[in-house]
Amino acid sequence: MNAMRKISFFIVLIFLTVTCDNSKPATQIKNENDISVVSEEVSKKLKQSINEYQGMTENPRNIDENGEVNFVPSRDWCSGFYPGVLWYAWELFGDSIYLEQAHNHTIILEKEKINGKTHDMGFKMYCSYGNGYRLTNDSAYRAILIESAYTLTTRFNEKIGCLRSWDHNTDKWDFPVIIDNMMNLELLFWAFKETGDSLFYKISVSHADKTIENHFRADNSSFHVVDYDPETGRVVKKNTHQGYSDESAWARGQAWGLYGYTMMYRETKDEKYLNQALKINDFLFIDKNMPEDLVPYWDFDAPGIPDEPRDASAAAIIASALYELGNYVEPDKKEMFFENADNIVYSLASDTYFCSEAETHSFLLDHSTGSKPGNSEVDTPIIYADYYFIEALIRKIDIDH
Ligand code: GLY
Repeated sequence: MNAMRKISFFIVLIFLTVTCDNSKPATQIKNENDISVVSEEVSKKLKQSINEYQGMTENPRNIDENGEVNFVPSRDWCSGFYPGVLWYAWELFGDSIYLEQAHNHTIILEKEKINGKTHDMGFKMYCSYGNGYRLTNDSAYRAILIESAYTLTTRFNEKIGCLRSWDHNTDKWDFPVIIDNMMNLELLFWAFKETGDSLFYKISVSHADKTIENHFRADNSSFHVVDYDPETGRVVKKNTHQGYSDESAWARGQAWGLYGYTMMYRETKDEKYLNQALKINDFLFIDKNMPEDLVPYWDFDAPGIPDEPRDASAAAIIASALYELGNYVEPDKKEMFFENADNIVYSLASDTYFCSEAETHSFLLDHSTGSKPGNSEVDTPIIYADYYFIEALIRKIDIDH
């Protein structure tokens, strides 16, 4: 953990401990001191999670319809988020209990390094092993990450210029590419920097370019699924899977795009990726598609708004992305991006979204939506919301100090 961050964080925490006997996040949090109160609450919840998940050989994904924690095997796309949360907790709080548990929940995933049946390699391995390697330099983690990255490259089709996303629904799609797949490129950039193998770089740039070409509409929103003909490389159709309709703007998809193109600019310094991220930001904020509390409904075009479920995970991803994007733009925009990110974090940390009830177990955030059309994980705690929320908190604390 960054020493300055740690010192600043604990000074504020000590101040709060002696001046304030209410450690719950305030409904209306407004400033840096309040963020430290939230961080303290995060720490309590995560320590509770360590007790609750003691001895589990699978990682938590969500709260199911019976109010129980749903644990998933390593092949599930969400298996890497809980270890990632623990790595971030170790980074933020420096308590060795997190280090030990982060390692235990990470190594569950090792066999995924040769699983070429999914594009979710980045979500699984980079959030878990990637954070672990960043913080520990453990050479065993490095080797597993490199093997994972090579496995992911086997999903690349030269003719199309993209990595294939899903292998399911073969009656509907031949070569589906989903906007979410932008997130998996971060693992490939990491592997490029570690190995110097330009294959990783070329695949990432090609995939990101094709996605700009075919996934975005004139209003800068994105389609969820683009299906290609693997023989000709041509686009066959554009659909949704988790959104309201083929033409709608599925909230988490827009969040993945914003985060993905911000990361692309970080890794390449190519202005076209920065422009794409800025266009997505315009769709979200300038065109006023975000609701007042800045936590999107599950789809921007959901017909029953305002009586539709929210997706807190989309909000957390957007906040984390904006804390990075703000560093790449001129000062007035930077201020606006950080302010929007802060306001999202304040909303998520409020009693409305932050879990304090027993029925939400050890999760941090309530009110995420996995797939409304699939009637799956609707308006419930989901682990990736927690992952991007704690990442956003760390990014905010770094900016503030
Ligand atoms: N990558 C799947 C999702 O965002 O739900």
